[in-house]
Amino acid sequence: MRREEILDLLFAQPFEAVCERAARVLEEEKGAHVHVRGLIEFSNSCRRNCRYCGLRCENGNLRRYTLAKAEIMAAATRAVALGADTIVLQSGEYAIDPMWLADVIDCLRGGLNVPVTLSVGEHPRAAYALWKEAGAVRFLLKHETADPLLYEALHPGHVLAERIASLRVLQRLGYEIGSGFMVGLPGQSLNTLADDIILARRLGVSMCGAGPFIPQHDTPLGAYPAGSAQLALRVMAVMRIVMPWANIPATTALATVDAQGGQRNGLLAGGNVLMPSFTPSAYGSQYCIYDNKNRVDMLGARKAIEGAGRSHTLARW
Ligand code: 5AD
Ligand code: SF4
Repeated sequence: MRREEILDLLFAQPFEAVCERAARVLEEEKGAHVHVRGLIEFSNSCRRNCRYCGLRCENGNLRRYTLAKAEIMAAATRAVALGADTIVLQSGEYAIDPMWLADVIDCLRGGLNVPVTLSVGEHPRAAYALWKEAGAVRFLLKHETADPLLYEALHPGHVLAERIASLRVLQRLGYEIGSGFMVGLPGQSLNTLADDIILARRLGVSMCGAGPFIPQHDTPLGAYPAGSAQLALRVMAVMRIVMPWANIPATTALATVDAQGGQRNGLLAGGNVLMPSFTPSAYGSQYCIYDNKNRVDMLGARKAIEGAGRSHTLARW
């Protein structure tokens, strides 16, 4: 599909028509099943300084934590018992001891026999390779915005090309890769959203998330307005049409700007993945990427899936 057609779906067609088309594609490609990924935010330490994110290293108003291996195992055990089909280990981008993380991955694979996805930022190829060897199968590394100038403005000292190069390295190592981007970033031109979708398609991602930007009060962008839930939903629906094969999550950011129906609406707009958090609650409040972050839990996920008339593997409890 050409850029003009994507722009037409994004900004000219009625929302309902785009959602209906996305729902048909979803039904054909993925059926009714919703994947539930158990998210464990194991560290909020970060060496980067992204201008939108509360975990940026210059934010001194944050108690930094890293979970111990036993805490990660306990959270993952709970997630799997409740029906999560994958564990997603997420953190800021910090100098993780590669061997430590490899050991955690190995224990998760051995102990729980569950696929492990990593979302830990950019690292040397050797670390990616070690974690792959230890059993990680997927890696999420969002490109955040396909506009190279905006990317540089938001990520001091970094360029989009190195992000794309990292995704390529991960892909060559045999990971399934996931990307994603924000909707409504300060300085984002709307047409860039078409380029975001085109970039994800060109990369051949298995998963792509699009969530609204949400201000965080301790960041340089703290006074800007949040992106719109409606636009994020539309972007999801267009992604479903353009990349039928992709796994598309209803993001936590969407569940934050639309606390009532974000998750369910995301599933109705072409989404087929939810990522409830299993981070121990004592730490979860310190993972404040943006303000008023909604904690998506298993009960919320179940309600959203059932509300959207879809199926899941979650246990009753
Ligand atoms: N609003 C929405 N999403 C954000 N992220 C970071 N900061 C924000 C924000 N202010 C998302 C980014 C990043 C992940 C850590 O969270 O997409 O990849
Ligand atoms: Fe760190 Fe990721 Fe936040 Fe950037 S977006 S500051 S890399 S946690």
